[in-house]
Amino acid sequence: MTQITTVPTAPITGQKPGTSGLRKKTPVFMGRHYLENFIQATFDVVGCAGKTFVLGGDGRYFNDRAAQVILRMAAANGAARVIVGQGAILSTPAASHLIRLNGTDGGIIMSASHNPGGPEEDFGVKFNMPNGGPAPESVTEAIYQRTTVITEYKVLEAQDVDLARIGRHQLGAMVVDVVDPVADYATLMESLFDFPALRAMFADGFRMRMDSMCAVTGPYAVEILEKRLGAAKGTCVNATPLPDFGGMHPDPNPTWAKALMDEMFSDTAPDFGAASDGDGDRNMVVGRGIYVSPSDSLAVLAANAHLAPGYAKGLKGVARSMPTSAAADRVADALGIGKYETPTGWKFFGNLLDAGRATICGEESFGTGSDHVREKDGLWAILLWLNILAVRKQSVADILADHWAKFGRNYYSRHDFEAIESAKADAMMAALRGSLAGLPGQVVEGMTITAADDFAYTDPVDASVSMKQGVRVMFGDGSRIVYRLSGTGTEGATLRVYLERYAAGPDGLDLDAQEALAPVIRAAHVLAGIAAHTGRTAPDVVT
Ligand code: G1P
Ligand code: ZN
Repeated sequence: MTQITTVPTAPITGQKPGTSGLRKKTPVFMGRHYLENFIQATFDVVGCAGKTFVLGGDGRYFNDRAAQVILRMAAANGAARVIVGQGAILSTPAASHLIRLNGTDGGIIMSASHNPGGPEEDFGVKFNMPNGGPAPESVTEAIYQRTTVITEYKVLEAQDVDLARIGRHQLGAMVVDVVDPVADYATLMESLFDFPALRAMFADGFRMRMDSMCAVTGPYAVEILEKRLGAAKGTCVNATPLPDFGGMHPDPNPTWAKALMDEMFSDTAPDFGAASDGDGDRNMVVGRGIYVSPSDSLAVLAANAHLAPGYAKGLKGVARSMPTSAAADRVADALGIGKYETPTGWKFFGNLLDAGRATICGEESFGTGSDHVREKDGLWAILLWLNILAVRKQSVADILADHWAKFGRNYYSRHDFEAIESAKADAMMAALRGSLAGLPGQVVEGMTITAADDFAYTDPVDASVSMKQGVRVMFGDGSRIVYRLSGTGTEGATLRVYLERYAAGPDGLDLDAQEALAPVIRAAHVLAGIAAHTGRTAPDVVT
């Protein structure tokens, strides 16, 4: 017997989604009514009766139990059908693909992305729209407002669905289709890239190392790289998703993917290295002895995408988040295609992709993707790099050198100052905002400030406006500093300082990024008074 119960509840403060859904410490999410309130608020806003949704997550601790709760609530709220990845697992890009492929009414993704997982770490939930992309601010804000007035939620009294068994299940009146999390995604990749050419490259002895960081992309990487493309067994490391990511911090950057970096800079380095994050939407790529910054990766992919079958007709446009370097803009200008600068967060690319204005998008935070789904996509970026390598038959280092020789180099780095007391970080940003009007004309570190503002974005498709998206200080020589506070953290504040300096070449194209940026870094500290406000003189993470 199954029975729908209406459970009285009361609003819980702080259920406001950030840059990418609602993220909290796992014990908070596991607290009484916490998940239930947020899910009911989501259904109340987006509607549930008669609808079909996709459900899956990155496999982190609590993923499996949260999935059962969400299924019971979907059934109680009258959903017709939910498509779930086997074991409640779906990478974020695979979930986006399933939402689109099946023409569903959206999906719920359980993930805190690159944040560590486990009983004392992070958990998260976000809603994606029928286009496969993260809900826009209008929807997340409505969900938040709903959480502040919620009085009850509905849940079906029923046994767990056996999510280990692929096939059709019934939960009350609702159908639950458990699907292979990898198959449809792998087929999509096969439709975009030249798999025969990649197979030939691996057969010729091309070696790579793919580090899934004990997170969700393991099974995807093994299926695609080792099984379908014939990469040597063992190419994929840390390929079994674990609830605590094996204690790793599944954030693919030089700090957290250090083992991969060490390997790629060693004498035995393979031709190509890559890593992806907790939920599979981020990527880091590394050549033998050379690190590719995400901003450069976006630019190289944009300049070479036409070499892959899925993009042979060329790109409609390139979009990047504001803090991402302008390297991609130079490619767009050379190709004569549109270029767009959006606030931080993948949700801002959705309209551009839907409207056919942009084909490739990227963020400095190790996110790149295209119009094949509505999320950033780690394995997609890795496969596009491989396709380019297979066609150009050059090393990563040579491809980067060619790129910089042609377009000049945007030296780039991001400095993160983590776990700052929120009040101090807010005070620093407020003081900085207050100082903006007086900055133009000032000279710092020998560079003249030409403009300073707080980035505001008007979406060119629906004219929605997003204010206060990061403080920008621009210099006469093309250098730039951006300051913003993270919207994905779960404790205190993280200050992100984005640093950029352009070198036109032909000289000075192969400096160390931190050295090339040294004056910009010093200016960033002076202008914001970072040490005075936060007590910090050096960043915790440099990417
Ligand atoms: C961070 C990144 C941002 C990315 C988001 C989700 O957000 O900076 O580019 O879209 O994670 O992966 P932040 O913590 O800066 O708000
Ligand atoms: Zn992620």
